Amino acid sequence: MQDIKIKITDRNGVTHAIVAPTDMAMNLMEVVRSYELAAEGTIGVCGGMAMCASCQCYVKSNHQLPQITDDEEAMLAEAFYVEENSRLGCQIQMTSVLNGLEVELAPEY
Ligand code: FES
Repeated sequence: MQDIKIKITDRNGVTHAIVAPTDMAMNLMEVVRSYELAAEGTIGVCGGMAMCASCQCYVKSNHQLPQITDDEEAMLAEAFYVEENSRLGCQIQMTSVLNGLEVELAPEY
């Protein structure tokens, strides 16, 4: 068992330093929900299927992230507020290599 520390900036610009487990098969969207860093119903709308983009975030740190899938790329191509460093939080599993990860939640839409 290993926990990692990550920083998540919420939609109000407040940065939260939190601890995430790597042994519970959680993704970043689920971590945000478990810490209630975004209002209920505004994140994870599709349940983590890469079909809603409500979990979009901007990756601020220089971590090796999981490869972007065709589904994720297609969803981001349709989403709003997309930046070069946009990813879908539900497609980022919490693993030990992500210790120190820094992300910012994209605006709600
Ligand atoms: S929760 Fe819907 S795309 Fe991530």
